[in-house]
Amino acid sequence: MLIAIVSGARPQFIKLAPIIQEMLVNESIDIYHIHTGQHYDKNMSEVFFDELSIPPPDINLNINNGTHAELVGRMLTKLEKELLRKKFDAILVAGDTDSTLAGGLVASKINIPVIHLESGLRSYDYTMPEEINRRVTDHISRLLITTTKIATKNLLNEGINRNWIFQTGDTMIDAIMRNVDKSEEKSDVLKKLEVKEKEYILLTLHRKENVDNKQRIVSILESIEEIEIEKVVYPIHPRTLKKIAQFHLESLLDNPKLIVTKPLGYLDFIKLEKNSSIILTDSGGIQKEALALNVPCVTLRDNTEWCETLDVGANVLVGSNKQKIVNTVNNLLNRMKEGFFTEWENPYGDGKSSVRITNEIIKRFQNGQLNIPTNIMVQNLVIDDL
Ligand code: UD1
Ligand code: UDP
Repeated sequence: MLIAIVSGARPQFIKLAPIIQEMLVNESIDIYHIHTGQHYDKNMSEVFFDELSIPPPDINLNINNGTHAELVGRMLTKLEKELLRKKFDAILVAGDTDSTLAGGLVASKINIPVIHLESGLRSYDYTMPEEINRRVTDHISRLLITTTKIATKNLLNEGINRNWIFQTGDTMIDAIMRNVDKSEEKSDVLKKLEVKEKEYILLTLHRKENVDNKQRIVSILESIEEIEIEKVVYPIHPRTLKKIAQFHLESLLDNPKLIVTKPLGYLDFIKLEKNSSIILTDSGGIQKEALALNVPCVTLRDNTEWCETLDVGANVLVGSNKQKIVNTVNNLLNRMKEGFFTEWENPYGDGKSSVRITNEIIKRFQNGQLNIPTNIMVQNLVIDDL
């Protein structure tokens, strides 16, 4: 079996790495890894292949910068050419970025079965580019790999054929389990940044709904001043850096509490996650990683597609309201001083999902279950139901 894997953005390298590792040692499958080029700085892309022990992609299409339409448009054109060069039996796309959408759309149009990793997530926020990308990709996929029951249920509610869904755990958990000890051993990031275990907060911020909105970004960064902790480590995403410059908000980074760094490599980053007292973020993946590492997460969003993190009590949504952020974080810090200890059961699997996913893809291919059907009715609603 020959599978094309399409990636492009930082979290995709991480969630795909454990599957790539499995496929590389499995004789029944060959991979061809296409990087769209969406993320291109060394520390947003190249650093991860080395650190996650996977080979660099076979090709980089170098498509980046531009509006969503420009980006996806250019990706569609170049990806089509690339996918027509070989006889691919399937394509694997992951998550909900523009690279995911472009890969899925091109492949489905040229009748290559699409496999969507991290399928079925819903934030129900239709203004988010990610929500559009994931919904469209799900509905053109032939195999939908879900992480939990909630994601599976979301798909069933949308009329997706039950037999096309494969529910297993989350490969980001595989990645973190495979690398957490290595990061403890190899990374000297705490020393470099002069922070001590559990004496700082880790902050990340990059979502369009936050950083493209001046009021929200100001409110979030101002909240840091009133948080009762000495140090906040802030690896800044390139999107946010650009927006801060565009809105002339550089002074907000001039806060003695803030330790601003470039985006960090995976090993440094997970070491910082594990040793922080609280994680403050609007990232998707980091909400799950915080849970896996038993670090409380305060999420700077009004909704989350990772609702299990809320259900187990590992995460709380605070949006961008300054007072709400300050109160929530200070309250948590006080409880921790009094000995509040966090440990949650992880709903995202046992760290072996990538093995199951690899085996399932090969099995379904060999059984003909990845073939694209020409006459399957997904739901058989009769007119009286309407
Ligand atoms: C993208 C995803 C988002 C994901 C995030 C992970 C979409 C629609 N959004 O958002 O879901 O959470 O990646 O980090 O796909 N830039 C650089 N250097 C880089 C990467 C980006 O300068 O290495 C700049 C781009 O030129 C652009 C801005 O950052 O100006 C945003 O990049 P883009 O890839 O469009 O979206 P992200 O915000 O990174
Ligand atoms: N990450 C990293 N370095 C950083 C920030 C994040 O390695 O400086 C990793 C983090 O451990 C997680 C992933 O990047 O695995 C999350 O990516 P991001 O927040 O960019 O995207 P999202 O998950 O929100 O789509």
